[in-house]
Amino acid sequence: MENTVSADTYLDVMLRVNGSARRLRLDSRVTLLDALRDELDLTGTKKGCDQGACGACTVLLDGKRVLSCLTLAAQCEGREVTSIEGLATDGRLHPVQEAFIRHDGFQCGYCTPGQIMSAVALLQEGRAGSDEEIREFMSGNLCRCGAYPNIVAAIREVAGRGSD
Ligand code: FES
Ligand code: FES
Repeated sequence: MENTVSADTYLDVMLRVNGSARRLRLDSRVTLLDALRDELDLTGTKKGCDQGACGACTVLLDGKRVLSCLTLAAQCEGREVTSIEGLATDGRLHPVQEAFIRHDGFQCGYCTPGQIMSAVALLQEGRAGSDEEIREFMSGNLCRCGAYPNIVAAIREVAGRGSD
């Protein structure tokens, strides 16, 4: 019988990445994270734990945040992927990016793309009503440098709740 799928099956996948259609031929097991970094040279999305525990790989899929290390690229056929490289428009940083700079929301910067993508989604989700809510809905994004207070301050400012 020829109906078994071998472990190394390759697939043609079309992703819409940061507004552009990208056609890829991929091993069916390739994650969205590896497709972005290794196939599309979009290395802004970081690989931390590669097992869903740190949030460094967060991107938006059809506007919702996902952990790209736990998402197969093949699942994203025809869908809209936004990575950190896609946030700026017309040469201007996204307001969340600007706020992270203003508030020193990073130190080594490794977790920062994931933090920013999560923050953008959190704001869209309407989850920035209080510092506690921000902390809760950013809790999947770990920062080994401990930049949390500044990250919360940056998000609070973009949410229009002041900057102190
Ligand atoms: S690299 Fe995906 S959650 Fe850590
Ligand atoms: S800024 Fe270094 S891990 Fe967050």
